Amino acid sequence: MSILSGKHVLLGITAGIAAYKTASLVRLFIKSGAKVKVVMTPASKDFITPLTLSTLSKNPVHSSFTNEDDDDAVWNNHVELGLWADLFVIAPATANTMSKMANGASDNLLMATYLSAKCPVYFAPAMDLDMYKHASTKASFDALTSFGNIMIPATSGELASGLVGEGRMAEPEDIVSFIENDILDKLPLKGKTVLITAGPTYEAIDPVRFIGNHSSGKMGFEIAKASANLGAQVILITGPTHQHISHSLIQVIPVTSADEMYNEVHNYYKDVTIAILSAAVADFTPKDVALQKIKKKSDTLTLELTRTKDILASLGDTKKHQFLVGFALETNNELENATQKLKKKNLNLIVLNSLQDKGAGFKGDTNKVTFIDNKNSVKEFQLKSKAAVAVDLLNEIVKHIHA
Ligand code: CTP
Repeated sequence: MSILSGKHVLLGITAGIAAYKTASLVRLFIKSGAKVKVVMTPASKDFITPLTLSTLSKNPVHSSFTNEDDDDAVWNNHVELGLWADLFVIAPATANTMSKMANGASDNLLMATYLSAKCPVYFAPAMDLDMYKHASTKASFDALTSFGNIMIPATSGELASGLVGEGRMAEPEDIVSFIENDILDKLPLKGKTVLITAGPTYEAIDPVRFIGNHSSGKMGFEIAKASANLGAQVILITGPTHQHISHSLIQVIPVTSADEMYNEVHNYYKDVTIAILSAAVADFTPKDVALQKIKKKSDTLTLELTRTKDILASLGDTKKHQFLVGFALETNNELENATQKLKKKNLNLIVLNSLQDKGAGFKGDTNKVTFIDNKNSVKEFQLKSKAAVAVDLLNEIVKHIHA
């Protein structure tokens, strides 16, 4: 899945011959899962038609402040367009448009949108080689990058003039991968590894029976997704669940029992930056596992259970650089109990679920959580989807590790 999936891409097209390549560019953005809107300078319509671009982008294309051909002229709101965009890509960017961008001119809808946009702006220059080399063009590049815009450099090759040299707009495929890599490089957890436990554990009684619990694993899987979306390499150690996940950054390690989970967690813990233990690990396990199926010989059956190892506490004991997060499911004295757990297990942060809150806990799609950190800061959240809780949790962790 591309990092661009679900993102709002605003494509700004200016009047260079390379504009004809923007049909492919729109298609590639759409293929990556992005939503695309196009804004054009009036002169760029000589190089590619708005109809082509609106058909490919599945959105109306705008090039002026009003739909002037219309009797009920509609205001094309540049501020709204700018706010809609997660990223603004100006391709091709002509010398003229870049000069205006460098100087804050606002004489067309594209320029006004550029000045209103709060998102990252990429620009892909395209022009003839002497224009590209001109001192004023270089000055535009410098000004634009000093404003925080990101340049997708032109390449060398045959130009529309027939001359050969620097100034060809980067190919659409290269523009898309440049942007994908740029976004990935800037993700806050890029290069970091997050270890996550999820789901229940099953403790065998005999070859066909076990002691388990109702944990669905959803919370842990959402945390894995949210971590990967921030660029982290994820090791997801999960007990038996019906959840599925497929992401190039997520390695799933299935386990069954608390003991297996303990061993796998310790295989990886040393090298991770963050460990988030959301699994509902059995606290007790049968002392002896019957080798054959237990027969119903009497009216009662007594099983002797022993304590499992507390995985979270063992990580707290051996913690070095890791940021350690645990969960606490409480029914009463919630804050006090969770804070005690945080201290006892040497955690950086604990996520409290109260069973008194409707919609919180094990099975459903929602959760209501409170984060408590080791400096006693308490943050309470509303009832949300588990996906949204996972995003809140990761944002909180990122704030802590970058503080
Ligand atoms: N946990 C663990 N290993 C265990 C038990 C729990 O890693 N053997 C982790 C869970 O993943 C969770 C946290 O510890 O992050 C829960 O702590 P725990 O003290 O078990 O909380 P409760 O189950 O709520 O405990 P208690 O019954 O003592 O309240």
